[in-house]
Amino acid sequence: MREDEKGYLKEWSNIHSDVEIDYTDQIFNDETVELAKGYNGVVLLQTQPYSRTSLQKLQDFGITKISVRNVGLDGFDFKDLRDLGFSLTNVPVYSPNAIAEHTTSLMLRLLRRVPEFDKKFDNADFRWFPTIGEEINGKTVGIIGTGHIGSVVARIMMAMGAKVVAYDIKPNPFLENLGIYVNSVDEVLKQADILTLHTPLAKKDVHMIDTAAIAKMKDGVIFINAARGGLVDTDALIAGLDSGKIGGAGLDVLESENDVFQKKFTSIDDVKDPQFKALINRDNVIITPHTAFYTTTAVHNMIFDSLTDNLNMLEGKTPKYPVDITV
Ligand code: COI
Repeated sequence: MREDEKGYLKEWSNIHSDVEIDYTDQIFNDETVELAKGYNGVVLLQTQPYSRTSLQKLQDFGITKISVRNVGLDGFDFKDLRDLGFSLTNVPVYSPNAIAEHTTSLMLRLLRRVPEFDKKFDNADFRWFPTIGEEINGKTVGIIGTGHIGSVVARIMMAMGAKVVAYDIKPNPFLENLGIYVNSVDEVLKQADILTLHTPLAKKDVHMIDTAAIAKMKDGVIFINAARGGLVDTDALIAGLDSGKIGGAGLDVLESENDVFQKKFTSIDDVKDPQFKALINRDNVIITPHTAFYTTTAVHNMIFDSLTDNLNMLEGKTPKYPVDITV
């Protein structure tokens, strides 16, 4: 539980004064799981994986109802949850706009060369030339995954005058009527001037963007990932940036983010992760530390929906956002 979540927790508590809640700022792991002893349910949020050992300990304490405050479920092995008899809820729609708007801002900052203008500004250089930008209007924006987040991105892009081409195994009927879907991921890769990922990290999609996928993209493509780092083979992405095949990258997630994000280093030089080091100090790369979700609206909904669903499960009611762990 972070400091900024505590106000919303108090609000929820005031409405549910019969529920006893305790919290910790530590992440959930094989040791800290001990803190859950004596409680009926747990509400969690982290990007680190949930180990079988820690889940086994929860079950030993008689806890079988888990609610995560976020949408992504890649930290769980569903087999562990099934074997140990857990029920799980998540918060799939805490604010698709938060992520979609952040995605848009990454695109705009790259297209309008904001990192370069910032650098010039710091050097008291207020001239335009040669830092000329590009517009979203008229570009082809490729979207892989049009669930809650991807479909908001599609609407924003269309409102800004882009042509949208998208792929999803389950097309959204409203967007289908607008004729945005193509038949394959490859077709999206081929057509997009700007490419953005909005798909969960299923096992089959690990490194969906690899050397072969990058080769299919347009030269100079702007690539955005605010979904999951594991969708991208980061070394292939770095090679694509080095060769100029990829014209710019906006990355809110990284494969090795757990070693870097949500930590405070004394200096950027203290960050040792080689992929992170290879990506920074480029004018055409913007990294944000998994903050696309991070708005007051989102955090409010993450707290309220997760706690309400944990209570629903504990009271034997149907939760609003049950996760199907049979898949
Ligand atoms: C998610 O909701 O899955 C996110 O990526 C947000 C983060 C707080 C884990």
